[in-house]
Order: sequence, then structure tokens, then C-alpha cells
Amino acid sequence: MEMLNIALPKGRLGEQVYRLFEAAGYECPSIRGENRRLIFENEERGVRYFWVKPSDVAIYVERGAADVGVAGKDILLEYQPDVYELLDLGMGRCRMCVAAKKTFRDSMDRTLRVATKFPRIAKAYYSSLSREIDIIKLHGSIELAPILGLSDVIVDIVETGKTLLENDLEPKDTIVPISARLIANKVSYKFKYEEVTALCRCLDGLCREQDQ
Ligand code: PRP
Repeated sequence: MEMLNIALPKGRLGEQVYRLFEAAGYECPSIRGENRRLIFENEERGVRYFWVKPSDVAIYVERGAADVGVAGKDILLEYQPDVYELLDLGMGRCRMCVAAKKTFRDSMDRTLRVATKFPRIAKAYYSSLSREIDIIKLHGSIELAPILGLSDVIVDIVETGKTLLENDLEPKDTIVPISARLIANKVSYKFKYEEVTALCRCLDGLCREQDQ
């Protein structure tokens, strides 16, 4: 049997995702060891896992360094990698939102300054509203931008809403709900069809059970 190369997002979501793969029968006990290795293999089960920075998973899969991987819908919408999206794992649920200071009042006669890590998502959203915007691309701590007057609003991920609340901001609109997706490399999907679809079926079965 061919080895299936799986890119997992490093961090809390990745650990939750690994537990799902394990429950689906794709266990790899060495991954639980306390060490800083990034690659783990279970030859018997035919799986090799890599821990990858969450925003890089789609690149590994698109270029075939991994056959499958788990990436957030936010990353898929923003970077539009050329991969197959096979399954919504229903984990890492959050939403892409517009947020601003509680006191912010929009005015249609000026260009809206939007700070975000997701310029493509923000542009598509405001273009659907025919709204002129000025994108300010940041790489983190987006919540600071409206507080310091760098932007009028932000487009960012909201999970519990705690970060917004603690910084005197509030969500104004939801752009799209987000969750973790199983993605596959297009060539792997063809040449490792059995392996990829078997994995997909097992995960799908488990996700359905958990939803009930
Ligand atoms: C995301 C997002 C918010 C926060 C929202 O940041 O950018 O800052 O989570 O979560 P909450 O609604 O539960 O407070 P992340 O933790 O991914 O870190 P980053 O800013 O480095 O991307």
C-alpha cells in the first residue's frame, strides 16, 4: 500500500484533528511523544503526518508535498489553492466578520479603511456591496488598527468574541462561517484514489456520528 502523506495544522486545532484521524483508524502513536519532531510515521497503517503552520497547509497540499491536509475555510477562500475540498470536518468553527469600535458610524461618502490579514476576502465582500475601500494588510493583532485610528474597520476571524470585547470593539457583520476542511492534492486524488477516499469515508462517518 502507498503511504498517505497528511499535513496537519500545528496547534490546538491540529491536535483535535489528529484525534479525529486516530479515531478513524489512522493512528500514529509516536506523534503523542513530547518532542519537537515535525514528521511522524506509522508504516503499518500507511500514514505519515507532518505538523505544518496552519496557513501553509494548503501550499503543501497544492504542490503535492502532502497528499491531503486540513486547512481552515478562511485560508482556502483567501489563497484559493488549486486543491480538492473533500469534507467539512465541523471543527475550528468561527466566522469571518467585519468589526469596529462600538462608536463607529459608517458614512457612504468616504472610502472605508479596512485592516485585515485577508485582503481577498475583504475585497470580494465590499465589492459585492459596491463599496470603495482602502485595504491595509496586516499580519496579526488586527484589533489594534481601529483603536489607533489606522483603520475604520477590521475584517478578521471571530471565535468566542473575547478579543473584540476586551478591546472595546464589536462585530458589525458576518461575512462567512468558517470551519476546518479536508483537502486533497489533485494528482494524489487520482493516483491514491483508494487511500484518499477511504480516509474521507471514515472521517465523514465519524463527523456525522459526532453531529448527532
Ligand atoms: C484570531 C483572530 C482574533 C482571535 C479571535 O487570532 O485574529 O484575534 O483569533 O478569537 P476570539 O473571538 O475567540 O477572541 P489568532 O489566535 O488566530 O492569532 P493571530 O492574530 O496571530 O492570527
